[in-house]
Amino acid sequence: MAKNKFGSKLGVVMAAAGSAVGLGNVWRFPYLAGENGGGAFLLVYIICVLVIGIPVMMSEFVIGRRGSGNAVGAMRSLSGGRKWDWLGAICILCSILILAFYLVVTGWCVKFFLLSLFGAAPADWINTLIALGLNVLILGLGVEKGIEKVSTVLMPLLLVLLVMLVVRSLTLPNSGEGIRFLFEPDFTKITTDVWLAALSQSFFTLSLGMGCMLTYASYMKKEQNLWSTAAQVASIDTLVAILAGVAVFPAVFSLGFSPTEGPQLVFDVLPEVFHSMPGGSVFGVLFFLLLLIAAVTSAISIQEIQVAYLNEQHQMSRSKALVWTTAVAFALAMLCSLSLDGSLSIGGRGLFDWFDYLTSKFLMPLSAIGFVLYLGWFYPTEESRDEIKQGSEGREWLFQTWLWTIRTVVPAGIFIIFLHGLGVF
Ligand code: PHE
Repeated sequence: MAKNKFGSKLGVVMAAAGSAVGLGNVWRFPYLAGENGGGAFLLVYIICVLVIGIPVMMSEFVIGRRGSGNAVGAMRSLSGGRKWDWLGAICILCSILILAFYLVVTGWCVKFFLLSLFGAAPADWINTLIALGLNVLILGLGVEKGIEKVSTVLMPLLLVLLVMLVVRSLTLPNSGEGIRFLFEPDFTKITTDVWLAALSQSFFTLSLGMGCMLTYASYMKKEQNLWSTAAQVASIDTLVAILAGVAVFPAVFSLGFSPTEGPQLVFDVLPEVFHSMPGGSVFGVLFFLLLLIAAVTSAISIQEIQVAYLNEQHQMSRSKALVWTTAVAFALAMLCSLSLDGSLSIGGRGLFDWFDYLTSKFLMPLSAIGFVLYLGWFYPTEESRDEIKQGSEGREWLFQTWLWTIRTVVPAGIFIIFLHGLGVF
């Protein structure tokens, strides 16, 4: 069976950016920035993307393309055995947990989109099912015709919608207050909690630490320049997060709401904001369409990790793999969604929160540490250098900087999140 591949270089960037740009940018980033001091959070977050995010993304690219396979398969082919299977297994587990709660939130996007368009929406479980249906439709078309084509059409559309919303937000009375909140760093607000929130956000938003970029890299051709792909994906992702902040905060401030609403910022506050804003109903539809596009192009990448795994490691056809992963995702998403009203809680924490907590505080950092330590200390440097140099010429200093960073700064930085997650400080 020939290995699936993406078709064009632009398509690769669009697919990977489609994965990166998601609820993390439009839903999570604004509320985290709102809770963690606005501009101060933005600054720390950008440092995390540059110093930790991009080196980890390069590591996943190298492993995925060199190993030419899913998280488990690529590690097996690089290490020549099963010693690193645990790392692949963490990725698959992580993707199963993230997909469950991601689909619940994608279901809310479906709901609010339908509400803003028709004034009514079906029950929550149907919205989640619609979200999953969209996933199945796109993944069913395959890697090039599904993931790549759909992302290449939807990502530019997302940018256009976002720019329209930004213009509307900036022309509201008192928009300056929201802009100042987002861009003026108050350095006294930078605490260890802000650093840790920014670090785990940089993983989540760049789709790192669960083998997603790794799986996409296995579909890249050797001509693809890994450096520029990583730089473009990280830039688009950061730009969208900032623009989402610019679209959200002036509106929130201008209409007298608080930026520290938490996870409900986008879903509770914004509909009210749209309601009381001139032309709000049109912008409401556009905003929730944007959110839905962002969510779906990411949700497919999370499910693809599992589809690729079943397809390549268990010789299951893609359609059969889709059926299985969809069934599991639906069941877990339903449980997550039930847990939101306080039932199904373990140790005072609902399933939804557990999945989010376990993945962002433990599993994603753990597999990111595994990837960088493997490449930095166990895998022959020559091989990594060779892989990176295919598709990009020279730049030895860049390679050396990357190697040094993944050997030292990245594992140390991630280790700190761990300790914090364990409550050590
Ligand atoms: N990066 C996506 C977002 O910002 C979420 C995601 C995480 C996607 C991990 C794939 C893998 O919403």
